[in-house]
Amino acid sequence: MPVEFLGIAATGDGSETTPRTTAAFDREYTLRLARAHEDNGWDRVLFAYGAGSPEPAAAAAFLASKLDRLQILLAHRPNVSYPTFAAKTFATLDRISDGRLTVHFITGGNDHEQRREGDYLTKDERYERTREYIGIVKRAWTSHEPFDHHGTHYRFEDFVSDVFPVQQPRPGVSFGGSSEAAYAAGGAEADVYCLWGEPLARTAEQIEKVERAARAAGRTDTPRIQVAFRPIIAATEELAWEKAHRTVGAIRARRAGGDLVRRRSADAPENTGSQRLIAIAEAGERYDRALWTPTAAATGGAGNSNALVGTPETVAEALLDYYDLGVDIVSARGYDHVDDAVDFGRYVIPIVREEVAKRDAAKAVALAAAEERDRQQPVAARA
Ligand SMILES: Cc1cc2nc3c(=O)[nH]c(=O)nc-3n(C[C@H](O)[C@H](O)[C@H](O)COP(=O)(O)O)c2cc1C
Repeated sequence: MPVEFLGIAATGDGSETTPRTTAAFDREYTLRLARAHEDNGWDRVLFAYGAGSPEPAAAAAFLASKLDRLQILLAHRPNVSYPTFAAKTFATLDRISDGRLTVHFITGGNDHEQRREGDYLTKDERYERTREYIGIVKRAWTSHEPFDHHGTHYRFEDFVSDVFPVQQPRPGVSFGGSSEAAYAAGGAEADVYCLWGEPLARTAEQIEKVERAARAAGRTDTPRIQVAFRPIIAATEELAWEKAHRTVGAIRARRAGGDLVRRRSADAPENTGSQRLIAIAEAGERYDRALWTPTAAATGGAGNSNALVGTPETVAEALLDYYDLGVDIVSARGYDHVDDAVDFGRYVIPIVREEVAKRDAAKAVALAAAEERDRQQPVAARA
């Protein structure tokens, strides 16, 4: 199966290493960064969600009306709107983008951040609500007949939408989280299950849990798996490692200066995904071919934060290891958004795509040979 690449749709410059110089929503920058992705081989970009950040659905509509090919992954927190309203917003956005929308449903891993927008449920309750919410959104996307809903978190009657998505039967549902409640909800509802980049063995462990949860929910298919990294690439291994140390130095300096903790409530993260990243970083700096954890440690395991360090060839090989493990989508983001999107797109993506195509072709040949062997075997021997 061809691999897909997800980049970041930041609406302003600035990252863990550099302070922002633009407005939080800067039209020109948003477009420039998205074009850097579209012109350099990426499939899709993520509009993230934060309590005080620019509203991502409006930003996504802006982008969809300006670019023709780049697909959109829209992060959305259920607590901020009613599910029927959200379903119409997404369907309208799928129309505006002519079928380029996937929605990433965010449960929220941190109580303090959730309370900023009035959400006082516990994390496990939030997962239960997300599951109910996704079910309603899917129904509103696909039902041409009015329907009622009497659930734990939502109750309404006689709803039918007048706007339906371009994608049939519906846009994709993406989901992230590393707690048991996350696997249960996402395993049941998600088309794409998102993980933060961890060592291969830990990633395999999580894939297995997602697949088990999907089976427990009675599904015959399993979600596609997405894994996220912060690639740090350069022309030689030596230069890449110098860059990696410069990067982590800049993160630490900003953190020491108080820049990166301003909007955080506590140093110890409440979400299992970040706790896992911190534990992995404490256990070692380097894993497998190119995984490097000090960038995760320096941010306190803040989301997508483990780096892959090396030449484009090394980083591509590392990504192929994840592909071989069952990963379908690579999410990647540098620290200098525009330049890093161009470099990764130019030098890493083509190698990975080419190698994946070779692997897929070899698999197809092996499968055809096995089928041919099966056909030639006498029926009695097959039994
Ligand atoms: C790839 C990925 C992207 C995410 N994007 C966001 C985001 O934009 N905003 C946000 O608040 N949470 C985001 N999250 C957090 C999750 O939606 C979820 O709230 C958190 O991982 C739950 O924690 P858990 O690991 O304890 O289950 C993201 C998670 C993943 C894996």
